[in-house]
Amino acid sequence: MTEPYRVAVVGVGIGRAHLEAYRSLPDRFRVSAICDLDLERARPVAEAYGSPRLIPDYSDLCRADDVDIIDICTPSWLHASQALQALVAGKHVVCEKPLAGSLKDVDALIAAEAASGRRLMPIFQYRFGHGAQKLKRLIERGVTGRLYAVTVETHWRRGADYYAVPWRGRRATELGGVAVTHAIHAHDLLLYLLGPVRSITARIATRVNSIETEDCVAATVELADGGLGTLSVTVGSAHEISRHRFCFANLSAESNTAPYTNTADPWTITAAHADTDGRIAEALAGFEPGPEGFAGQFVRFAEALESGGPLPVTLEEARATLELTTALYAAARNHATQDLPITREHALYAGWNQP
Ligand SMILES: NC(=O)c1ccc[n+]([C@@H]2O[C@H](COP(=O)([O-])OP(=O)(O)OC[C@H]3O[C@@H](n4cnc5c(N)ncnc54)[C@H](O)[C@@H]3O)[C@@H](O)[C@H]2O)c1
Repeated sequence: MTEPYRVAVVGVGIGRAHLEAYRSLPDRFRVSAICDLDLERARPVAEAYGSPRLIPDYSDLCRADDVDIIDICTPSWLHASQALQALVAGKHVVCEKPLAGSLKDVDALIAAEAASGRRLMPIFQYRFGHGAQKLKRLIERGVTGRLYAVTVETHWRRGADYYAVPWRGRRATELGGVAVTHAIHAHDLLLYLLGPVRSITARIATRVNSIETEDCVAATVELADGGLGTLSVTVGSAHEISRHRFCFANLSAESNTAPYTNTADPWTITAAHADTDGRIAEALAGFEPGPEGFAGQFVRFAEALESGGPLPVTLEEARATLELTTALYAAARNHATQDLPITREHALYAGWNQP
């Protein structure tokens, strides 16, 4: 095994959860720097995580020669430009969601990554929960049969205190509302497990908070193989849940409803036919539970850096999720079904917040 990768975490909000995950993987990663404009906030975090160097200025961090990986956990509108700057500086990059505010910017990042010889990994840590991983295994081994219908619920709770942070609730800085910030994990999981979406209809509304962006979504999707799905999102749920529920020809699969760990066990898998139980047991017999969440994504990242193999979340996959997001906003704006793919000629290719 190689020396641990030297990583710098930028932004100490959700960045603290990234630091915790790196700390759990000491053979793979060593945190060599923390970057945040807000030194008051960053200082105690640095002390709690082994006192790495504190670097307030992002450009200075990009020039640091003791950093292999820059992990971007800053407000959403900064992601694409900071990722680009880090790639140009010769760093590998991890970037929180959403990777960018447009498919155009994602395509620029794909080109920049290819030119840089470095790797850029978007964050979608929910994928690595054991419940979701087991269902993926059942799908890949043909145990589930074809999909009939799926429901995805992201019913969380956010109030005025959450939106008091100046960059939240604004299109220019958060890049969108619940479709971009909160439900994007659940929608990414849908694509990760089931593949491309063919078309979408959607309505969005701002009903819970006094903000510029949407905080409720109702959408329907048609998957490439004809299966149907519904997406329901709000940050106005008194009782918070996340839930995925799949009805396949051979089984139904339902996640637990813990809002931020619903992809972990337990999931309820119910066989539709007498012989399916045996096939499920056989397929899951070799399942090896690895780390979940951020640690699950980071350990696979280190393996991909070492082997040169595919990243656990690829740029193309993150692009597909942002393509679905773009289509959702287009459908909502036009009150019409939006087909995918979104072409470069589409009015929202350069940004779903285009006037
Ligand atoms: N994957 C997840 O589950 C998850 C969860 C929460 C947030 N996020 C994403 O993480 C990002 C950050 O969200 P948050 O809730 O942590 O926000 P936050 O406002 O709590 O933290 C952001 C930090 O970035 C710092 N910062 C801002 N501009 C900077 C700059 N130019 N250079 C260095 N530091 C800078 C701020 O001082 C702040 O400490 C968002 O894009 C959000 O969508 C992802």
